[in-house]
Amino acid sequence: MKNRLSRLIQRDGRAMFLPIDHGYFQGPTTRLEEPGKTIAPLIDYVDGIMLTRGILRNCVDPAINKPIILRVSGGTSMARRDELDQEGIITSVREAIRLNASAVSMSVFVGASGEHQTLLNLARLVDECEDYGIPVMAVTAVGAELEKRDARYLALASRIAAELGARVVKTYYCEEGFEKVVRGCPVPIVIAGGPKVDSEMEVFSWVHDAIQKGAIGVNLGRNIWQHDHPVAMAKAIRAVIHENATPKEAQQVFESERLAA
Ligand code: 5RP
Repeated sequence: MKNRLSRLIQRDGRAMFLPIDHGYFQGPTTRLEEPGKTIAPLIDYVDGIMLTRGILRNCVDPAINKPIILRVSGGTSMARRDELDQEGIITSVREAIRLNASAVSMSVFVGASGEHQTLLNLARLVDECEDYGIPVMAVTAVGAELEKRDARYLALASRIAAELGARVVKTYYCEEGFEKVVRGCPVPIVIAGGPKVDSEMEVFSWVHDAIQKGAIGVNLGRNIWQHDHPVAMAKAIRAVIHENATPKEAQQVFESERLAA
């Protein structure tokens, strides 16, 4: 368990994960139509990639030496948006071991009709993964209900995920009270980015503030690979996470990388 976690969480205690799992319910999302091409220029700047077995098998060179966080929950689609919270476990732990995953990830939908089912999915998955020393990263998912992302909700969902045995929790950033989300969650927290926003500075500010308040890093996808300058975004966010860059310094990294490209 410690060995796998140490592949993902770096010696400085921080982590930058790149999720490219969105197709498991969104299909060929914009700029993730060919995931292998999306990640090729980014892979050197991230500490791990989160994806499904189908994309790992078909689109990622097995020789890449990058830790894998294997998404193992799903079974829903955007075609039935009201049922996004009805996920099941779609990949076995045996398969995760065979694919040499450093961790597995799955979603819980606290406060939705799928709450009970997805929390039991988490508990059962943790039981099985602990036998093999595989960390489970719980994703506190909100489906289409993005407005749910306030500190009270995120603290509730993150704490429950940790209580049920998640070794890492992926949640969202919130401007007000994020420190309470971190304080109430006894395992490391990484933040997602959510849908792409227009300003790079906004993303750098979220990441910086989240880290100041105790997050260990990010599991952040669309605001990197849907950007017109994904490598510049990745390098700037990396500077915030691993070099303690301020949002202003990150913007400078972004601008100089953008011009150099
Ligand atoms: C999809 C996920 C994503 O991995 C997560 O939301 C992070 O990606 P983004 O920064 O694009 O929101 O779990 O359910």
